[in-house]
Amino acid sequence: MNFQLVTQNYDSVPADWLIVGIPAADGFPATVSALDESLGGSISRVREAKDLTGENAETVALLDAANIAAKRVLLLGVGKPEEITRASLHKAVMTAARLVSSKETTTIAIALPDLSRDGCSQADQLETAVAALEIGCMGQGIYHREPKRFAFENATVVIAPADDETELQSAIDRGQIFGEAVNLTRDLVNRPAQDINPISFAAVAEGLANQYGLGCEIFDEDRLREEKMEALLGVARGSDQPPRMVSLKHNGSAEDAPTLYLCGKGVTFDSGGLSLKPSAGMLDMKMDMAGAATVLGAMIAIARLELPVNVVALMGLTENMVNGSSYKLGDVLTARNGVTIEVHNTDAEGRLVLADVLSYAVDQKADCIIDLATLTGACMVALGNDVVGAFTNDQPWCDTVLAASRDRGELLWQMPMYELYDELIKSDVADIKNVGGKWGGAITAAKFLEQFVGDTKWVHLDIAGPAFSDKNQPHQEGGATGVMVRTLVEVAGRFS
Ligand code: BES
Ligand code: MN
Ligand code: ZN
Repeated sequence: MNFQLVTQNYDSVPADWLIVGIPAADGFPATVSALDESLGGSISRVREAKDLTGENAETVALLDAANIAAKRVLLLGVGKPEEITRASLHKAVMTAARLVSSKETTTIAIALPDLSRDGCSQADQLETAVAALEIGCMGQGIYHREPKRFAFENATVVIAPADDETELQSAIDRGQIFGEAVNLTRDLVNRPAQDINPISFAAVAEGLANQYGLGCEIFDEDRLREEKMEALLGVARGSDQPPRMVSLKHNGSAEDAPTLYLCGKGVTFDSGGLSLKPSAGMLDMKMDMAGAATVLGAMIAIARLELPVNVVALMGLTENMVNGSSYKLGDVLTARNGVTIEVHNTDAEGRLVLADVLSYAVDQKADCIIDLATLTGACMVALGNDVVGAFTNDQPWCDTVLAASRDRGELLWQMPMYELYDELIKSDVADIKNVGGKWGGAITAAKFLEQFVGDTKWVHLDIAGPAFSDKNQPHQEGGATGVMVRTLVEVAGRFS
C-alpha cells in the first residue's frame, strides 16, 4: 500500500472511502464540523438521531457523499478521548478497514482528530492506525477464485497543518512495517501444509533474509544430527518431509553487546503422530508453525526498522506425521543437552522440537530468550482464545515482555511455575517424560521447556489460542492473527 501524508481540509481529499475518526464527546472536532458543513449537515443529523455516539469501533457509512472529493464517508467511533489506547484504536481501524475492503476499494483516506494523550501520542496513534489498515484489508481467502477482500492500493493520511510532519511521516513508515510484518506472519500461517513445509518455509525465510540484509543459516538433517538434535529429529522421523532449523541474525549493535534470541515452534503440520488427533482437532493444524512464523515476521520488522540491537531468530521446522518410521510411545529420545525424554504421547511434539532449539540458543550464549509456540490446548482452556500465556524463569525479564505487550495492546497473562509441577514430568524410565498428565497442561509443558534453558533468562509464550481464530469478527478476520509480532518488535526496541 502506498501511504501519503497530507494537510488538507477533509472535504478536498479524493478517495473511494474517507474514514473519519469521531470521538465519544460532546460536539465534534473543528475539522469534522467543517466536513459536516460541506455535507449539508448529515453528520450532525446522524448524531441527533443517536446513530453516532462515537463509541469505539462504531461505524456509520454515508454512501452518497455529495459536494466533497471522496465518494463515500465512513464515520468511525474512536471512543472517549481520555480512554484511547493503541489497543482501542487498533480495534476501531481494523473494523473500518475490514468493512471497507469487503468491496472493491483501491483508494482510501483516513482522518483522525489529534487526540494525543499521555502514553499514546499522535504518532503512536497514526502508527497504530496505519498498521491496522494494512492488516484489516488482508484476509484468509487466499484461494478464492473471486476475491472477497480487496487490499487497498493507496492510502492518504490527513493531518492538521500544525502537526509535526516529519515525526508523523516516520510514524506512518513504522506502522507500515509493523502491518506488513503481521501480514507476512498471517500469510504463512494461513497457507496449508501442502504449500508450507519445512523446506518451503526455510526457502521463504532465506529469500526474505537476503532481501532485508539478515544473516541466514539453514540446518539440514545432517547438520541437525551433528548438533545432536535428536528430539527434533525424533518428531521428524514420521514424515516424508525432511526437517530444518533456520537461524536468522540481525547485527544492529556491537559484537559484544547482549543478544536476544527469539525461538519459534515450526510444526508445519501436526497430525498428532501415532497419538493421532481426531479430524476436528487436526483441521487447523497447518497453523502449528505460528511460533516460527511470528518470529520470522518480527525479525523482518526488526531488520527494516534497523533497530540498534543484536537479535537471532531460531525456527525449528518439522511435520508431525505417521509412517513406518514414526517415533513411538515409550521411545526414549536424548535431547541435545543430554536430557533423556520418554515419549508418552507423540502429540506433545512441540516441546520436543523446542527442547533442542532452546538448548542450541543457550550454547550460542544467548543473553535472553523468548520462545513462541502453539504449544497446548490446555493454555486455551486456561486463558481462552484471546490471551497469550507467559511462563518464565526470570521475573524481571518477564516483566519487560509483559510491559511491551501492554504498551502494544496485545493481551498476555503470566502463569505460575512452582517447583511442585516438576514432579509431574518425572519418568520412571528416563529423566523426564513429554506429558505431565491431565491437569495444569500448559504449565507442565513450560516446565518441560525449562529443562533446556539452564540459567539463561527465558520467557515462553504459549500462543495456541490467539494465533488462529476459527471465526470472523468485525474487527478481525478468522484464520491467522499475527499475534505477538508487534510485542516482539517492541521488546527488541527496548533491549540492550
Ligand atoms: N499443536 C498442539 C496444540 C494446539 C492445540 C495448538 C489446539 C492449537 C490448537 C500441540 O502439539 C498438542 O497437540 N498438544 C497436546 C499436548 C498433550 C498431548 C499433552 C494438547 O494440547 O492436547
Ligand atoms: Mn501436537
Ligand atoms: Zn503441535
